[in-house]
Amino acid sequence: MAKPKTLYSCSHCGTQHPQWLGRCHDCGKWGTLEEEVFSPNAAKDAIPSAARNLLGVSAPASHASEKIRILGEIEPGDHTRLSSGIGELDRVLGGGFVPGSVVLLGGEPGVGKSTLALQLAARVDAASVQAGEGTRNVLYISGEESPEQVRLRAERLEEQGDGVAILAETRVEAFAEAWRDLQPKLVIVDSVQTLQTSRVESSPGSVAQVRESASLLAATAKLNTTTLVLVGHVTKDGSLAGPRVLEHLVDVVLNFEGDRNHAFRLLRASKNRFGSTQEVGVFTMAEKGLEAVDNPSELFLAEHRDGAPGSCIIPLLEGSRPMLVEIQSLVAAATYGTPRRTTIGIDDGRVALILAVLDRRTPVDLVSRDVYVNVAGGVRVNEPAADLGLALAIASSALDIPLPPRTAACGEIGLGGEVRRVSRLDLRIKELGRLGYEQLLVPPGTRAAVKKPGCTLIEVENIANVVAWLRDA
Ligand code: TYD
Ligand code: MG
Repeated sequence: MAKPKTLYSCSHCGTQHPQWLGRCHDCGKWGTLEEEVFSPNAAKDAIPSAARNLLGVSAPASHASEKIRILGEIEPGDHTRLSSGIGELDRVLGGGFVPGSVVLLGGEPGVGKSTLALQLAARVDAASVQAGEGTRNVLYISGEESPEQVRLRAERLEEQGDGVAILAETRVEAFAEAWRDLQPKLVIVDSVQTLQTSRVESSPGSVAQVRESASLLAATAKLNTTTLVLVGHVTKDGSLAGPRVLEHLVDVVLNFEGDRNHAFRLLRASKNRFGSTQEVGVFTMAEKGLEAVDNPSELFLAEHRDGAPGSCIIPLLEGSRPMLVEIQSLVAAATYGTPRRTTIGIDDGRVALILAVLDRRTPVDLVSRDVYVNVAGGVRVNEPAADLGLALAIASSALDIPLPPRTAACGEIGLGGEVRRVSRLDLRIKELGRLGYEQLLVPPGTRAAVKKPGCTLIEVENIANVVAWLRDA
């Protein structure tokens, strides 16, 4: 019997090392190396053929010279995509799933991945039934929940998914029979971290198990033109737990984001071989599962009241979708010692930068005062376009002067205090006009660039002008 082979894989970046080390050479993380034992015999038993897929069929063999094709002579193939039945998801995918594609759906625990996966299963099943293709077109493999638990969730969601085939199993080899019998259109695996294959001997959830299992499933999906959705948990630092290696194996990587204490959820594609990564899907987690949000701005501004000092509206851009969010700030006298700077929903570094610029370039006094910044509604702001609004919110609270009603701001602020241009101002201005905003503070030169804005554009050169404008307003 051949000797089992031992390797050490980094749970952060997936790099394999021949011996154990305290620190991964590749990504520099400490204490992430895990032992993986590969059993050569198990590999032979478990995988039916050299094709390395679950169904035991091998891809047709051909000579390399026959494989060569001329780009201009290749037919693009038909683009019959499989609609997910969820409009926001279709939008992110670029119009539905491409049959045979592998999609990784990542997100932090509790964000709603299983809910989205089950709603997807139910909608595709309902559409198949309606199209007269019968039931069992969707195979939902649950490694985390029992079929009873899945049923309970389905009842809560009130979706029509009675024909979904559920398999509670974690051994990849055991999926083969169900896959072969049902020939499903869509296979959903919740989650990849529970998968195991007898090819590797390490515990479920380890890098080697996840990688081997996922590549086996992906090869099967490709060969059978089945759409495969893999659900994966993501760790706090934003990487998929362990299998960053999965990202190159799949066609589409979707990230489901949101703050668990808020209902708002964003679905983003960080990789998409069949569409743009500029589209985002917007949902709220409601009593009966995820609901699409057509007008995110209206959702975020529902509680906004004009006339409160320390609040400013900014037009953000998520992909190609504008949405208006409210930045709130509170400047208070620090009791003693170093003043506190607390931020929620926005980068600390960005806030520190704006505070420093405000302090040096304007008469607003922020020394020995606590500053709190919050983005309402659980949104995360990453765009520099929010700088101007952030500065206005802080100045407005420090000076105790509210912004005029129906006013918003958009622009990046440089270290010299200058207001800089941002991308796609036309889209942002259109959204403000649509929601009845009357004034917008903008970088210089915007008026000449934007034709027919729906609101008054006030050009501001630098941060000192902004504070002066606020004092006069
Ligand atoms: P879940 O899909 O289990 O998250 P994940 O698979 O990403 O870990 O959903 C988790 C949360 O969603 C849970 O705390 C309850 C909430 N939820 C609702 O608010 N409404 C619903 O209809 C459902 C099914 C869940
Ligand atoms: Mg789950």
